[in-house]
Amino acid sequence: MKFTTPATTNPIDQLKVIGHATDRIDGPYKTTGTAPYAYEREAAYGYVVGAGIAKGRIVSMDINDARRAPGVLTVVTADSAGKLGKGKFNTAKLLGGPEIQHYHQAIALVVAETFEQARAAAQLVRVQYSKEQGAYDLAKARESAKQPKEKENQDKQVGDFNTAFNAAPVRLDASYTTPDQTHAMMEPHASLAAWQGDKLTLWTSNQMINWSKGDMAKTLGIPPENVRLVSPYIGGGFGGKLFLRSEALLAALGAKAAGRPVKVALQRPLMMNNTTHRPATIQRIRIGASREGKISAIAHESWSGDLPDGKPETAVQQTQLLYAGPHRMTKMRLAVLDLPEGNAMRAPGEAPGLMALEIAIDEMAEKLKMDPITFRIINDTTVDPAQRDRKFSTRRFVDCLRLGAQRFGWDKRNPQPGKTRDGRWLIGIGMASAFRNNLVQKSAARVRLDAQGTVTVETDMTDIGTGSYTIIAQTAAEMMGVPLKQVVVRLGDSDFPISAGSGGQWGGNSSTAGVYAACVKLRELAAQKLGLDPVLAEFAHGEVRAEGRSFPLTQAAANGELVGEDAMEYGDLDKKFQQSTFGAHFVEVGVDAATGETRVRRMLAVCAAGRILNPKSARSQVIGAMTMGVGAALMEDLVVDRRAGFFVNHDLAGYEVPVHADIPHQEVIFLDETDPVSSPMKAKGVGELGICGVAAAVANAIYHATGVRVRDYPITLDKLI
Ligand code: MOS
Repeated sequence: MKFTTPATTNPIDQLKVIGHATDRIDGPYKTTGTAPYAYEREAAYGYVVGAGIAKGRIVSMDINDARRAPGVLTVVTADSAGKLGKGKFNTAKLLGGPEIQHYHQAIALVVAETFEQARAAAQLVRVQYSKEQGAYDLAKARESAKQPKEKENQDKQVGDFNTAFNAAPVRLDASYTTPDQTHAMMEPHASLAAWQGDKLTLWTSNQMINWSKGDMAKTLGIPPENVRLVSPYIGGGFGGKLFLRSEALLAALGAKAAGRPVKVALQRPLMMNNTTHRPATIQRIRIGASREGKISAIAHESWSGDLPDGKPETAVQQTQLLYAGPHRMTKMRLAVLDLPEGNAMRAPGEAPGLMALEIAIDEMAEKLKMDPITFRIINDTTVDPAQRDRKFSTRRFVDCLRLGAQRFGWDKRNPQPGKTRDGRWLIGIGMASAFRNNLVQKSAARVRLDAQGTVTVETDMTDIGTGSYTIIAQTAAEMMGVPLKQVVVRLGDSDFPISAGSGGQWGGNSSTAGVYAACVKLRELAAQKLGLDPVLAEFAHGEVRAEGRSFPLTQAAANGELVGEDAMEYGDLDKKFQQSTFGAHFVEVGVDAATGETRVRRMLAVCAAGRILNPKSARSQVIGAMTMGVGAALMEDLVVDRRAGFFVNHDLAGYEVPVHADIPHQEVIFLDETDPVSSPMKAKGVGELGICGVAAAVANAIYHATGVRVRDYPITLDKLI
């Protein structure tokens, strides 16, 4: 089905099931330990050996002792694996050697009967390297950074920034840094591979089934139809599981070599350096405005690094669209770094971009002696500032700011920093804008109706803890006019129709739109079976009715199951609209006057993100994202060893993330909004919007508490004293 915009009134608009706060269907399975994760099946154990250097070559690898160790079935290395291809979505090789491209690049898999035997034998692998000096320091590599080659990542100019900036009566020129960050999801990368002849089945933990199926086939050099990926339950991803990673490839190679199923969970100490991470950035922001606070010139430049042939962190993205101003410039520069591969982590681009921009906006408001919310409101735009005939499909940004200010008690805030105290705590209130683009992706599904009235949805969509099972069930229930408990949802299997997958906050809207398309097909089939006009047929309360006649829905499948399968596809029709999601974050912190320790006291997010399909799971998404934003503000920092070229704090003891106890009070408000340009669901993404701006709101609150402006994340106590 081709989506024609704007979406007309359709069965989803009934909101009998959609739009209601609904418990996650998978919740009880996950909390009682009955949801089968990839690693939880019988198989031999693989243990990954990671490279001990960041750049260079393996001179020799002695695996003889490992091979002879108790319980060992096989040892896989680049030598024994033979020729391997490289996946479309991978920058570095998933199995390194003899060339080493980054620290902890996988160089061997030891397979044994038990985990302990595999681990013990892995210690017996002896490797000699010849080391080369790599580039590990972004600040140093900045000079040699180049314009990225992808068109969308090249310099963008509107008007004449330099002239307008120099002429502006009020100016800000400030630089900010964000560190490397890691996804730190609960479940590590984990896969279990089993071969039947030349056909591979991989139980895995992966956000994008079809991407990774394709990359597995490409890497192994086998036809894609010989690869099946199964990923029904995933213990978090945050972008780290968008791609095929080493544990999946090594499980496949290990199973082939061992002649039996092999499972590999990437050891936690390998996670930070073996997989991808959010790259560090250096960002320079210049803003020029009139004394009345109208922005005349805005420039955002960002430097980041990646392995050769990698991509930049697109931190300037939001600055192209968030605020008005006739003269604008954005630039990204990409340096070659020999650190592990940089890639997507929750809201790539906007999350680190807003960490800088939204402090800069706060600083600019202060220069103007203007309330920071007022400054944002007067620089709102209803059109794409670079292409003024392109409107936003919806943009209730100012409503988010105003409602948030009212609910958070902004008017009670003393505008002077460092003036509010509660015993030993310096109290600060800060806010920041939230912005994230809304992407839509083609997504397919198959929906079956049986004689008992059970509606079964099958799609390769994944649920990474986001609530996909539940909103997909809600969509099918709404469309077919049956109660939620009559819907069965089966996800995460490459045998099912290809979905949008979980990425870029497009999963919720896009995957349910695909289910909508399949249900439209199924409704037509059912109406035809019952001799009703498919255009007039209404599906409600387990019945189908048209022109005064009505039948039980089950009757349509009385003589055999009905199957509707289709995809929702998007053409160029929506190009005249910019689709984005908006919000505002408010944070209150206390900073210990003696130690500089920051404690978040309360948080509020107001989001305008189209129709909220399930307010409960959407709220959970935003709350989780807000928590992650606090991590970005106060704790998260992959520390680079600039001599040896690796991330030093490679476990969850050294890499700190916030827990619930760190966040006493969180509230989320969704504006009542539908976006008929986004899809027939009229929904948008929200899971990444929730993190966008949070860290800057914390930073601005800390400034308000202390009068100390920190432009270098994370804002640890040493930077405040
Ligand atoms: Mo998201 S970082 O695109 O999973």
